[in-house]
Amino acid sequence: MENMGLKMLEIYNHKKVFITGNTGFKGSWLAAFFDHLGVMHEGYALAPDTTPNHFGLLQQAQSFTEANILDTGTLEAAVNKAQPDIIFHLAAQALVRTSYTDPLNTYQTNVIGTLNVLEAARKCSSVKAVVLITTDKVYDNKEQETAYIETDELGGYDMYSSSKACCEILIRSYRNSFLNISDYKTKHHLLLASARAGNVIGGGDWSKDRLLPDIAVATSKNQKVQIRNPRSVRPWQHVLDCLYGYVLLGAKLLNEETAFAEAWNFSPYSHEAKTVEEIAAIARQSWQEVRIEFGRAQDNFHEAGLLILNNSKSIARLGWKPAWNTAEAVDKTISWYKDYYTSGKVSTAEQVKQYMDKINAQ
Ligand SMILES: NC(=O)c1ccc[n+]([C@@H]2O[C@H](COP(=O)([O-])OP(=O)(O)OC[C@H]3O[C@@H](n4cnc5c(N)ncnc54)[C@H](O)[C@@H]3O)[C@@H](O)[C@H]2O)c1
Repeated sequence: MENMGLKMLEIYNHKKVFITGNTGFKGSWLAAFFDHLGVMHEGYALAPDTTPNHFGLLQQAQSFTEANILDTGTLEAAVNKAQPDIIFHLAAQALVRTSYTDPLNTYQTNVIGTLNVLEAARKCSSVKAVVLITTDKVYDNKEQETAYIETDELGGYDMYSSSKACCEILIRSYRNSFLNISDYKTKHHLLLASARAGNVIGGGDWSKDRLLPDIAVATSKNQKVQIRNPRSVRPWQHVLDCLYGYVLLGAKLLNEETAFAEAWNFSPYSHEAKTVEEIAAIARQSWQEVRIEFGRAQDNFHEAGLLILNNSKSIARLGWKPAWNTAEAVDKTISWYKDYYTSGKVSTAEQVKQYMDKINAQ
């Protein structure tokens, strides 16, 4: 391994990883990423709630506890049994629309669920690091052109976003209260960091109300897809770009670098932010059968019009940078679905390899 980032990943050799939310879109890709690195991982999540689902297609069920993050006894037992070195916490109620219909479950799963993971980690001496996944939506979004930096004010308009902003406050408070950096190596051996990314795309996501899955499913049925808010601007990024950031961040914590125990943005370059309309046009280039109709949202739940993160800190200090630009990310995503729907092929492992080859060449 020559690339500096890849060199850092060697710290995972002979380590064990615990992934909450491993049955979900990002969690199943993260498990595939660790499979590529040859790192052992275990999972904790609810059963997948879509058919098909990426987790099932990858046949990753062998080392996974199917249980609720709110069941503290089962969670702590699973962590203790696994004896992991690091936990990646991705389990969440991750949909903005669902947070309008089920705010209580959204807050319980996201906020109390995060607290349960922190408690389970603190009680298990093998755990040296926890990377907690929040979102780009944690910022108080002023719909401004300026990209948000990690120290900007937290907020969150809707219940999903505010629950994740609460997670950020919780993580900071938990660190101050129990895992203070000044007590590292004397009173505790655990480092926490949070990771903020958004509008992540990639094959194998069948969640409702996500642009590219909606396009892929409609196209597979030879239907036109209805798309809302064509002018919304988003920092689209491939799931592997943000996961690579999470994994690098985890490597720094495992390497006992206390300066990394804080919040991090992982996003494409600001100039890569594209409108929904532009993304749809790129999708059509990758799969000619894609047919799109633009319209307004039918139910008027609030969605951010403009939300851009500043990724300078991750680039400067973590040595991370986006490897696939937005056009490549959309192409890889639509190609994944095209392969799946036209020939049943699951190209996850192949795409992880292509991604790592690109990182290696940087
Ligand atoms: N996909 C995105 O664009 C995006 C953007 C920003 C942040 N995120 C964050 O990344 C993480 C993963 O998102 P995703 O897109 O993979 O979501 P997902 O909905 O595909 O997966 C969610 C996972 O959490 C698990 N989960 C949900 N409720 C649970 C509970 N009560 N107990 C145990 N497990 C539970 C599910 O079983 C699943 O494994 C979430 O924290 C989400 O908020 C996602």
